[in-house]
Amino acid sequence: MISENVKRELNGLLSDGELGHMTRVGFMVETLAAKLAGIDRKKAKMLGDAAYYHDVGKIYVPRKILLKRGRLTSDESNLVRMHCVYGQLVLTQMNERVSFAEEYLNLATASALYHHERWDGGGYPFGLKAKEIPLLARLTSICDTYDAITSVRPYRRGKQHEQACAELERYAGIQFDPELVDIFLEHGAEMKTHAAEARAEPRQPGQ
Ligand SMILES: [Fe+2]
Ligand SMILES: [Fe+2]
Repeated sequence: MISENVKRELNGLLSDGELGHMTRVGFMVETLAAKLAGIDRKKAKMLGDAAYYHDVGKIYVPRKILLKRGRLTSDESNLVRMHCVYGQLVLTQMNERVSFAEEYLNLATASALYHHERWDGGGYPFGLKAKEIPLLARLTSICDTYDAITSVRPYRRGKQHEQACAELERYAGIQFDPELVDIFLEHGAEMKTHAAEARAEPRQPGQ
């Protein structure tokens, strides 16, 4: 689904850390989506591949800000927040070169644009609420947070699976779709195993 050219292009523009995170989130979204009623394996794979692109807009955020240790200034964090909108732009530009299938492009754009929206309406960039947020973005948000908590960052070590699950549970119905969090937690052991596999064997979408 994604050309070798695009993979090479992204490899040059995003750090290994970001690419690894995007890959793991895509893999976890596929695993979680496959648990939902009415989503078959093929559709789950498409959702996972599309979710890979959720942070692609970070191409336009200076790397020194992305890798900065310690607190960001308000200008810096505003710039980081722009990655959702930049993501839509990057995907539109990429589409001119690689011609994504329309459904795939729409899904990838939804994941990029809306994955920082919150269930309670307190997210960004639009402040959408509950099911106004597309399903794929609600799935991405959960897996994104899980991976952010369990991954090693420049400024701290990764935390445990149990701590990440506790965080998801705590913010269910506030930040996250509570029904999707329940499904994630119900399959917690499998999510943990798949996340660990994705960490051990970085996988590109379409493989
Ligand atoms: Fe993001
Ligand atoms: Fe992310």
